[in-house]
This record gives sequence, C-alpha cells and structure tokens, in this order.
Amino acid sequence: MGPDGGPGDDGDGPPHRLELERADGSGTTTVTARAAETVLEAAERADTHIPFGCRTGACATCTAELLSGTVEHRREPRALKPRHREAGYVLTCIAVPTADCRLRVGSDVAGELTENPWR
Ligand code: FES
Repeated sequence: MGPDGGPGDDGDGPPHRLELERADGSGTTTVTARAAETVLEAAERADTHIPFGCRTGACATCTAELLSGTVEHRREPRALKPRHREAGYVLTCIAVPTADCRLRVGSDVAGELTENPWR
C-alpha cells in the first residue's frame, strides 16, 4: 500500500505484472500478481517454480533481487540484514508488489547473501 492514499491503497487495487528473470540465465517468465498477493503466491498460481522454504520471511531461501518496481513486505523480513535490503534484495514469500516489478529469482540469488571466504 502506497503512502499517498491513491487508488489501490485499500488492498484491492489493480493486478501487477511481474517479470521473473532467472538468475541462471534460463529465461524470464511474466506472471500477474493479484491485489495483496505475494510474488511467490503469484508465481505458484502461474505454475512457475521459484525456490522457497519457510514462507514466513525467516530462512532466505526465496530471496530475489528487485531490479525495478516496488514491493512491501507483509511482515518483518527477518532473513535479510539491513544491508541486503538496501542492496535491493527481497523475500518473495512475504513481498507484495505495489507496482509492476522485475525480479531476479532462483536459488543462486539466496547464495549471494552469504559471504564466501573462498572467493
Ligand atoms: S521462504 Fe523462507 S524467507 Fe521466504
């Protein structure tokens, strides 16, 4: 819900178009998110697989990078550190789009949150 009190702020706004770009380069899928639906719920309804675990914002398995657009997390995204959120990472299991979005998805994205000492 936007801060401006405009249309859609009642949680019953228009659907949003989500472009899900695979981090492994295997392509992009476009799905539609209904009002108040999370990115993960919209993908599942379209039979598009994106990774998930806890579905409550605690495990980071579903991490995606928001390339454009805006989302609001339904609850505190506990699995993301502030620096990850600032870098544009979101949790698709609790992220509700508030505009058309483009996201980079796939299990590779969650791996980017962990510092790799061997790299
Ligand atoms: S599925 Fe665990 S944080 Fe999203």
